[in-house]
Amino acid sequence: MKIPEHIIEQVRVSSDIVDVVGEAVRLKKAGRNYLGLCPFHGEKTPSFNVQQERGIYKCFGCGKGGNVFTFMMEYYSLSFVEAVRTLAQKAGITIAEDTETDDGKSSQYDAAYNALLTAARFYYSKLQKPEGKIGVDYFKKRGFDPELVKEFALGFAPDAWEETSNELKKQGFSIQAMEDAGLIIKRDDGTGYDRFRGRVMFPIHDQIGRIVGFGARRMNEDPKQPKYINSPQSLVYDKSRVLYGLFQGKQELRAQNSAILVEGYADVLTLHQAGFKNAVASSGTALTKEQLQLLHRYAKNLYIVYDADAAGISAAFRGLEIALEEGFEIKIVQLPKGDDPDSFVKNHGADAFKIYLRDAVSFLDFQADTFKNRGELETPAGMAESVRSLVRTISKVQDPLQRDFMIRSLAGKFGLNESLLYDELKKILSDKFLKQQYNQREQKSAQQNLLKDENPGEAQTGIEQKKQQEVLNPEEELLSSEKMLIDVAVRVRSERQFMINVLKLVPENFFTPFAKRLFEIIIKSEQENIDPLYHSDLTLNESNFLTDLVINREMSTETWIKFGQEALEENTKREIRDCIFQMRLYGIQQELSSLQNQSRTLSIDDQIDIMRKIQSLINQQEEVRREFAPPTFF
Ligand code: UTP
Ligand code: MN
Repeated sequence: MKIPEHIIEQVRVSSDIVDVVGEAVRLKKAGRNYLGLCPFHGEKTPSFNVQQERGIYKCFGCGKGGNVFTFMMEYYSLSFVEAVRTLAQKAGITIAEDTETDDGKSSQYDAAYNALLTAARFYYSKLQKPEGKIGVDYFKKRGFDPELVKEFALGFAPDAWEETSNELKKQGFSIQAMEDAGLIIKRDDGTGYDRFRGRVMFPIHDQIGRIVGFGARRMNEDPKQPKYINSPQSLVYDKSRVLYGLFQGKQELRAQNSAILVEGYADVLTLHQAGFKNAVASSGTALTKEQLQLLHRYAKNLYIVYDADAAGISAAFRGLEIALEEGFEIKIVQLPKGDDPDSFVKNHGADAFKIYLRDAVSFLDFQADTFKNRGELETPAGMAESVRSLVRTISKVQDPLQRDFMIRSLAGKFGLNESLLYDELKKILSDKFLKQQYNQREQKSAQQNLLKDENPGEAQTGIEQKKQQEVLNPEEELLSSEKMLIDVAVRVRSERQFMINVLKLVPENFFTPFAKRLFEIIIKSEQENIDPLYHSDLTLNESNFLTDLVINREMSTETWIKFGQEALEENTKREIRDCIFQMRLYGIQQELSSLQNQSRTLSIDDQIDIMRKIQSLINQQEEVRREFAPPTFF
């Protein structure tokens, strides 16, 4: 059984699209709508439009559009069911746990998420038990308060081979679910044992608060054991897309418009507790582009706190270049040798850390200082190489104004001629531009090859070509009268009812598969008494298409409102009739031309038969024309 339509509808009505999108995009009110930078493609001027009353959004830059559910699906990579559940939770609407999902895939995801959540609760509950006391003591020793432990759902994994998996089994989880969740390691005989044993547990949340994995720390300093054991990459855990602390720090990240990037779980925890709730870490992996893109949605300024050792520096450099490309304003915080943020705050306090943040140096200064400390600025050749390398860094910055500012600051710093640096920059940029163009060309031809490969060895027939177009862009195949009918049916309830109940229009009256399907959903929505724009049967593509129709039409409505409501309705009725007329004619003509094609290859007898059919079609055509002829006044 799926989630019942009336509940989906209830969730939709209780979810304000401006709130939902506003979690991810800074929106500004513009007239009746809201406007912001599109989260689905990079842009500098806002073309992402949100209509609060209709509950829909549309980007005029990249074309993405839809409703609250599709937004959740696309932005957070959720299934439809997950999107509904997430919004339901926010709105305080309960959906029965045993409501099964309609496709196996999303229930497999759900099972893995639930297994992780259940395990986290189990680990947390252990802290209240005698065997978990060593965990409690450990957190105490690290200075983690009970509130922090609760907020981050820290816990303790018992030191036993199968206690956790037995508990999950008891609660109804399959071996498959535990494996998908990364909680067990499979033996050769198909049974599994617990991955995490006798360790303190740090659950890792994704940005919407689902637990996707764990970091598990040893409680002693025994160097024979790894310090941390981490969840593997799994069905639900993509390490390159998750930042530790992001979920708990979202509000603060937005409020400050800045993030403090650190290396470890412990650093994040200590900083959060000390009031720096905008601290995040990549959990045990090198920083990725995806993580930085995710972070950039919440904050545009980035403080990077790094270890003063050589490995720390070069790791910082790599992450930094990507961060520059993503458009972050970057500052580097250099802590005293031997300190990480966790130990620093514990030893010197939050105020001292604040001073370090205040005195953070720009990325450029940091890099220049590094060269200087390495003695690379002492010869003219070394100096030239260093400056060139700095300009290369500047070329990563996307914003020309910011680039300009950085070039001037660099020239000042080294007492160099600005125009010299600009020349160097221009050279790098034009190289980059050429490379980009080249890459785009490569990509294009690769795509074309891909299409060709689908029909290896034979030339494409017209039909095959058409099929591909349908897959790429089904809506372009719509007849204009089909499009018009669907447009009116979706937007105007009374006209929708008129089409269905009075004109008895059915999906079979349409010609293209896309239109047939849309009209089927429109009829269904009418029966279920919900707005077709939000019907749960719509695919992303279909929902996008309908939103497009509605938004484009309503943007221009203002101009035709002045004709008055009656004239409008009169007009619409005529248009509907006209479209149906066109479609009927089109159907007859299709049949005619197929008959005419057949008749060429047939025997005389069969030809005569076909001639009769053709004649009857021509008669039908006349009838239709009469039926739909404009009323005469004689
Ligand atoms: P650190 O060694 O700096 O750990 O590694 P930490 O977070 O400061 O932990 P404490 O203070 O010693 O308790 C930084 C990060 O690297 C990953 C973890 O994500 C850790 O937080 N790491 C480190 C591992 O994944 N495995 C390890 O064995 C060590
Ligand atoms: Mn540490």
